[in-house]
Formats: sequence, C-alpha cells, structure tokens
Amino acid sequence: MAFDNTTTTDEVLDGLDLTGRRIVITGAASGLGFESARALAAHGAAVTLLARSEARIEPAAEALRQLVPDGAFETGAVDLADLASINAFADAYLADHAAIDVLINNAGVMACPFGHTADGFETQFGTNHLGHFLLTARLAPALYAGEAPRVVTLSSAGHSRSDVDLDDPNFERTEYAPWIAYGRSKTANALFARELARRAGDRGVLSFAVHPGGIMTDLGRHLTDELIAEMASFARARTATAEAGGGDEPEAPSGGMGFEFKPVEAGAATQVWAATSPDLVDHNGAYLADCGLGVLGANPGTNGFLPHLLDDERAAALWDLSERLVGTSFPT
Ligand SMILES: NC(=O)c1ccc[n+]([C@@H]2O[C@H](COP(=O)([O-])OP(=O)(O)OC[C@H]3O[C@@H](n4cnc5c(N)ncnc54)[C@H](OP(=O)(O)O)[C@@H]3O)[C@@H](O)[C@H]2O)c1
Repeated sequence: MAFDNTTTTDEVLDGLDLTGRRIVITGAASGLGFESARALAAHGAAVTLLARSEARIEPAAEALRQLVPDGAFETGAVDLADLASINAFADAYLADHAAIDVLINNAGVMACPFGHTADGFETQFGTNHLGHFLLTARLAPALYAGEAPRVVTLSSAGHSRSDVDLDDPNFERTEYAPWIAYGRSKTANALFARELARRAGDRGVLSFAVHPGGIMTDLGRHLTDELIAEMASFARARTATAEAGGGDEPEAPSGGMGFEFKPVEAGAATQVWAATSPDLVDHNGAYLADCGLGVLGANPGTNGFLPHLLDDERAAALWDLSERLVGTSFPT
C-alpha cells in the first residue's frame, strides 16, 4: 500500500509485529503521543508513557488500557522544562531498563506567552529542544543497547518561521514573538535529529525528524485570535509561494488556513512510520512528512522543508551549545 497524507497509524502498522520492542514516548497523555502509544501497543510494543506528572499520565494510561486491554504500558513522570526532573527520571529509568528500542520525542508547547523553564531557558526552546536533547543524551546508553534503535523527534512546518538563533537562543536581546520562538524550537528539533544521525549512526541509531501535518489538538491551547490570524496568513503566503514554484512572492489568497487539518490517526501516522518502517533504514537523519521523505523546496505546510534544515555546521554548533546549556555531554 502506498502511504500519503491520509494514511493512518493502523494502516502504517498493518502486518507489523512489534512484540519485544520497548518504545518510550514523551507527551503521551494527549494528542499525537496518545494515539501513537495506542497504535504501537496494539501491535505488540511495550510502551513507556511519559508526561510531566503522575497526575497527568495516569488517567491517560487508564484510557489506553481500556482501548488496548492486552497492551503492555508503563508510565513515567518527567517535566521537560526542568533539567533536574529529566535527570531524576533518567537515573530511575536506567536503573530498571537496560535497553530501549525507540524513543519518540513528541511532547511540545506552541506559541505560548514569553516565559522560562526552571533553568531559565525560553519556554519553547527549553522544552521542545533542550528538554529532549537532555532526555535523549541521558537515555542514549539504553538506546545503544537496544535492538536496531531509533529516535523520532517531532519537528513541524513551523520550522519555516525561523532558523535557530545561536547567539540569543533565549530572547535576551531579541523581542519575543511566539511564532518565531516556536519556529526556532522546531528547527532545532530537526537539526538535532540530523546531527544525531551523523554522530550516532555508527552506533546503529536511526534518527528522524517528523512534521505530522496540521491536527486539532491541545497544542493550540495558547492561541489567541491574533496568533491564529498570523499563522494562517503566513501559511497562505507559504502555500502560494510554493504553488508559484518559489521566486517572487505572489499575492496570497485572503481566506482559509493555508493548509488542511488531518484527523489524529493520520497526524500520528508519520511518527509511527518513522519508528517502525523498514523502508527508512537508508535515510538516516531525514525529515519526514505525510508518511514519506520530506521534499526540499516543496510547501512546508504539506511535505516540504526549507534548506536551513540541512545546515550541518549550524546543527553541530547547536549540538555544542545544547551540551553546554544542559551541562551534559552527549555520549556517542
Ligand atoms: N498538532 C499539530 O498540528 C502539530 C503540527 C506540527 C507539529 N506538531 C508537534 O507534534 C507534537 C505533539 O503535539 P500534539 O499536537 O499532540 O499536542 P498536545 O496534545 O498538546 O501534546 C503535547 C504534549 O506535550 C506535553 N508537554 C508539554 N510541555 C511539557 C513538559 N514541560 N514536560 C512534559 N510534557 C510536556 C503536553 O503535556 P501537558 O498537556 O501536561 O502540557 C502534551 O501532552 C509536538 O511536538 C508538536 O510541536 C503538532
């Protein structure tokens, strides 16, 4: 079966037996993480559900146990906006688990008001990128002990809003803009996925970045009418530019969102595909969308991506900066 933007999680996993695979998912209490956990467990994987607190994850785990009565679920609390929480979780988890086969860095916060994590990083860069950077670094020994290990990191079409800013990552000198901060963090997610493939590929790790599509989830909790209008106007212009084949900015149409929403089962399909597909073994480090390889220069609102996601010098510099900020060397 050929996959596309309508393919669902269960269609991706049709015929796959994941028995014996240990899969860890952040942000598993809702949205794409919850659906990924459901589908992967229904096909036999043992799934560790992570959320910021026990209170947040337990009701979700209960709901998943109802949906997949034979599913093998365990839960963990880790606040990705707090380095001490990540380190404490990793210490405890590694004491009980020698190996992990797949880590899905799925949690995220989008276009929130200006704020800081417990360690003083801007909330979106700190949570979406640095939190997952440290979590992956700390779980790396278990990943290296895993069977054909994979790391899947959620990026977004939002990468098209901004490259990373390595000089002022926490908006100390730059005026804060919620969508720019989200864009920076989602570019960081994609550069991290690419650099991880380069650094840990010879340890057997496959690493992918994923744009899931546009899906109505709790991710939009911080959106005001103004932020929605700004996003839609940007997305319409992006679509019009892509349809005109790049070049001069054509006039963008005035109505609509500039992209189409997917149901959650299709939205979570690309990350589930990234976590399991045998077709991806020769594409380490790739940016994926619509259950396929991303296309350089195509519309980021569908399956395209911008050239700044391929900048290996910036990816390496971001890696070094991230190690310094989280105070941990990534074991490769
Ligand atoms: N939905 C879309 O259209 C879309 C498009 C492109 C990319 N994405 C990406 O897809 C991923 C999943 O998003 P979603 O749409 O499924 O949204 P969602 O339902 O809001 O899920 C995000 C999850 O991340 C968790 N999270 C946020 N901050 C956290 C923290 N500090 N520590 C631990 N967990 C934290 C949230 O937990 P709480 O509820 O407790 O805060 C929530 O369960 C995100 O990385 C997002 O950027 C989504």
